Amino acid sequence: MKKVLVILLVAIVFVQFFPIDKNNPAPTPGMDFLTIKNTSESTAKLIRNGCYDCHSNESKYPWYSNVQPIAWFLKDHIDEGRKELNFSTFATYEPKRQAHKLFEAVEMIEKGEMPLDSYIIAHPEAKFTEAQKQEIVQYLKSVEKEIRMMNDLPAETSKK
Ligand code: HEC
Repeated sequence: MKKVLVILLVAIVFVQFFPIDKNNPAPTPGMDFLTIKNTSESTAKLIRNGCYDCHSNESKYPWYSNVQPIAWFLKDHIDEGRKELNFSTFATYEPKRQAHKLFEAVEMIEKGEMPLDSYIIAHPEAKFTEAQKQEIVQYLKSVEKEIRMMNDLPAETSKK
């Protein structure tokens, strides 16, 4: 038993030598969703609190991002999240993709799938009230509608 504990301890110490890369890509305010859409301060704050750590290049890294293996878990969410939707480079998306991503975002929030549960545990400010959810959803829907109108794109319906 003692031997197992020692091995475990050594392993935990060992993985600490493999920190994650915490360098965010350079800021690009001209391409950032909240900036280009001139989002109101209150809605912008909610989206920042709830989504920007994983879906932007402005991720904030908490102290436990220095602790493995938690840091790998966190980094994986950031990498995957940015791949799916990066608000910091939103302006580079084709209009059709922009509208589609906002459509998906609304679905995710309404179903309670985003923000991720594991994130909410550590970030109480991302646990939205029903009114806050509605504020974000209504806003994202209005931007989606505007993009579709300006680009002559048809409305989308849920596949599920
Ligand atoms: C802790 C990190 C994290 C937070 C916070 C977070 N997401 Fe995500 N999000 C992910 C990851 C990881 C994926 C890709 C894997 C998946 O779909 O679960 C994803 C996927 C998505 C997708 C694509 C879903 C699809 O249909 O494939 C959308 C849209 C999305 N997130 C929107 C949001 C919005 C909006 C918020 C804020 C309300 C948010 N996310 C908060 C990590 C996060």
